[in-house]
Amino acid sequence: MSDALSEKITLQHLRNLRQSGAKLAMLTCYDYSTARVMQSAGVPSLLAGDSAASVILGHPTTLPVSLDFMIEITAAVRRGAPLVFLVADMPFGSYHASVAQGVKSVCQMVQRSGCDAVKLEVAATHLPLVRTLADAGVAVMAHLGLRPQSIGMLGGYRYQGRTAEEAEQILALALQMQEHGAASILLEAVPPEVSEAVVQRTSVPVVGCGAGPACHACVIVTHDALGLSDSKPRFVPQLADIAKPLHQAFAAYVRSVSSGAYPATQHNYAMSPAEQARLRRLLKERPGGS
Ligand code: KIV
Repeated sequence: MSDALSEKITLQHLRNLRQSGAKLAMLTCYDYSTARVMQSAGVPSLLAGDSAASVILGHPTTLPVSLDFMIEITAAVRRGAPLVFLVADMPFGSYHASVAQGVKSVCQMVQRSGCDAVKLEVAATHLPLVRTLADAGVAVMAHLGLRPQSIGMLGGYRYQGRTAEEAEQILALALQMQEHGAASILLEAVPPEVSEAVVQRTSVPVVGCGAGPACHACVIVTHDALGLSDSKPRFVPQLADIAKPLHQAFAAYVRSVSSGAYPATQHNYAMSPAEQARLRRLLKERPGGS
């Protein structure tokens, strides 16, 4: 297909966006089959996000997913889309106890999934971890703004950076993350003024998720954009409504099985007439055969 990627997308491609002014599309992805379609459609970057907790597993928050689960799905996405720039989300609890725990978890993720970068929802306490990971050569995406793993403290999924002071704090943390070696910044759910300030004052690529047009790349939760989620945040475009055709297809299957229309002759595996005759004889010879 002509849209398909022709080369491996790397961090350098993201860095170049600052000079070229081009914008990069990123989607969340959680499985091999969808990753294949996304790569063939030319999606240059995928995020194996912990939003999988909600859209794949049905949890009300992103907190319950384990590191092993995130590694499994990220590795599946990598197998389906070897050329994309693949970002792995580090789950809640996998990097909060200490720098040593964070490094161990991130190394497992990088080695077992084949991701190109890891995303951490960061506070100032994570600066030493970001420094250590950067020194070890890991591309860290520092996630600021709305941080769903902090739902306990936030008390709700409200957009961030509403006041000048809050916006200034986000910018200050973005700059600190960059100074400590973060390879990129992700801003979730902030007004465009905040992302503009971060884009203008930092030198790393900035990915926006509900953060306005200034960012170098945009990421959305695929299930929200495809009509598969219960609700869609205001910044998410409706790319399709695949819930309806899926619903119709599943209902048609139920009807065809219950009516006996499926399976039909064309769905059967063949047995040669000679084997059919042998089988009939064998069954007759069995006790109870007639
Ligand atoms: O897990 C996720 O999908 C995310 C995006 C919302 C940025 O972190």
